[in-house]
Amino acid sequence: MPGFFITFEGGEGAGKSTQIRRIGQALTEAGHSVVVTREPGGSPGAEAIRDLFVSGAPDRWDAVTELLLATAARRDHVRQTIAPALAAGQIVLCDRFVHSTLAYQVGRDDVTEEQVMALHRLALGELWPDLTFVFDLEPQLAKERITARDGEKLGRFERMDPAFHTRLRERFSSIAQNDDVCLQIDAAAPMDDITTTLLDAINARCTL
Ligand code: TMP
Repeated sequence: MPGFFITFEGGEGAGKSTQIRRIGQALTEAGHSVVVTREPGGSPGAEAIRDLFVSGAPDRWDAVTELLLATAARRDHVRQTIAPALAAGQIVLCDRFVHSTLAYQVGRDDVTEEQVMALHRLALGELWPDLTFVFDLEPQLAKERITARDGEKLGRFERMDPAFHTRLRERFSSIAQNDDVCLQIDAAAPMDDITTTLLDAINARCTL
């Protein structure tokens, strides 16, 4: 498709949203047509699934159900929002995509990478990001940032135990090293430096 598809990944509290806002603004000022979206969500149907997905007790859904919900939401999101934008030659900035499923669901309740990929092919065919930034941050620092931002109003995944978040960081790190579209970002670096790193990488890879 003629557009360019960029996703932002990593654990909670790593500063993805702030950077997406900054990158969206910089690319728009440079004359690009930009769509900013998120997962789970990004279309009315997928936002309805998101409400189920992120609220309630940590053990409300097992990982297999999460995989099915995330993939169903993704299919609707791609059909309603992402594919039309890419077909129109726009740059899509998406807060989380399939690498979140590979990190959050794989390894829990026997969910495997192969199962995630098989469902991805069924629901989305060959669609894959052109560029993925994987934000890396020490979990304790991330927790401090989340508490400062949201107080005690934590979501389902934010309330999972510290061991889960440590494992999640390792998963994201290994995913980033094994997929050419991924670039790992040191999320503890100063905000302006991160923005510069992201824009440099986009300019190097995006020919729009
Ligand atoms: P966030 O968008 O506020 O980060 O919340 C979404 C939560 O959903 C976050 O904890 C990560 C989780 N998630 C998954 O577990 N699997 C997925 O495929 C996606 C997209 C998100």
